[in-house]
Amino acid sequence: MSHQNLKGKIAFIAGVGDDQGYGFAIAKALAEAGATILIGTWTPMVKIFTQSWEMGKFDESRKLSNNSLMQYAKLYALDAMFDTPEDVPQDIKENKRYQEASCYTISEVAAQVAKDFGKIDILVHSLANGPEVKKALLDTSRKGYLAAISSSAYSFVSLLAHFGPFMNKGGSTVSLTYMASEKAVPGYGGGMSSAKAALESDTRMLAWEAGRKWEIRVNTISAGPLRSRAAKAIGTIDSMIEYSKANAPLTKELMAEEVGSAAAFLLSSMASAITGVTLYVDNGMHAMGMAIDSPALKPQV
Ligand SMILES: NC(=O)c1ccc[n+]([C@@H]2O[C@H](COP(=O)([O-])OP(=O)(O)OC[C@H]3O[C@@H](n4cnc5c(N)ncnc54)[C@H](O)[C@@H]3O)[C@@H](O)[C@H]2O)c1
Repeated sequence: MSHQNLKGKIAFIAGVGDDQGYGFAIAKALAEAGATILIGTWTPMVKIFTQSWEMGKFDESRKLSNNSLMQYAKLYALDAMFDTPEDVPQDIKENKRYQEASCYTISEVAAQVAKDFGKIDILVHSLANGPEVKKALLDTSRKGYLAAISSSAYSFVSLLAHFGPFMNKGGSTVSLTYMASEKAVPGYGGGMSSAKAALESDTRMLAWEAGRKWEIRVNTISAGPLRSRAAKAIGTIDSMIEYSKANAPLTKELMAEEVGSAAAFLLSSMASAITGVTLYVDNGMHAMGMAIDSPALKPQV
């Protein structure tokens, strides 16, 4: 990625909670290209993340091509369910994993980043949460559905609305989506498919609005299955990976680094005319209209 020079660029990556997910891989690809990395970590994960980082648990994953370890300039506790301190309910304020933290709502984090670093160039949204993801859509409660949309889709609208004024012209944003937005994927329930459809539609609308308002680009990556912490919680990730290997044009397992480098491209000036796009980084799975390993096809093969 070194040919994509992001030296002097400042990137805020929301949704880094360990070294297994897409957020970490994107942070690493941006660091590899020379960007300064700021991390937004879900408030209840901050302690375990920083302890693991300090204890060296991520050292192997942090290794850059020049053998140095990826660094971040600052970590911010973030809960993307909340825009302002007034939005935080009492039970969350009193939760012991939130008590030590402060200023973790989106508006407060954006204000802190602006105070600490002035303007930024890159905003990454790599977070999602669907409390009822294991339930079929038909069994999903209104509360669960709205929570999925709030934390997985509106959170990006809000992040961009609050960070946009502090982004340099020519800046760029990327979020992460999934093909269940446009094709039925059994098991991806709880309103998460709806949230991803909203995120992709918002990508187009926000590309228009943020392009005209701040000259900022807005794109989303539709990524294939990865064994991240969030995906493991859904419970079907191993079979999704196997399904992709059996049916996608490219049979290799998708690596987080492949999404990291595609994001670094979209976030660099090499993609300066690309905005409003959903870019598939999924070994080509999206192009298929048939499951070639279906037993129904066997007699003809
Ligand atoms: N893993 C996959 O198979 C896959 C496929 C396509 C898209 N994606 C998307 O990639 C993105 C990153 O997910 P991942 O799979 O790498 O898992 P991950 O567990 O690494 O990332 C999800 C992050 O979201 C954070 N988070 C949850 N609720 C939050 C909140 N309210 N405020 C702030 N942070 C919050 C979690 O702490 C976690 O760090 C998500 O948008 C996910 O839907 C994942």
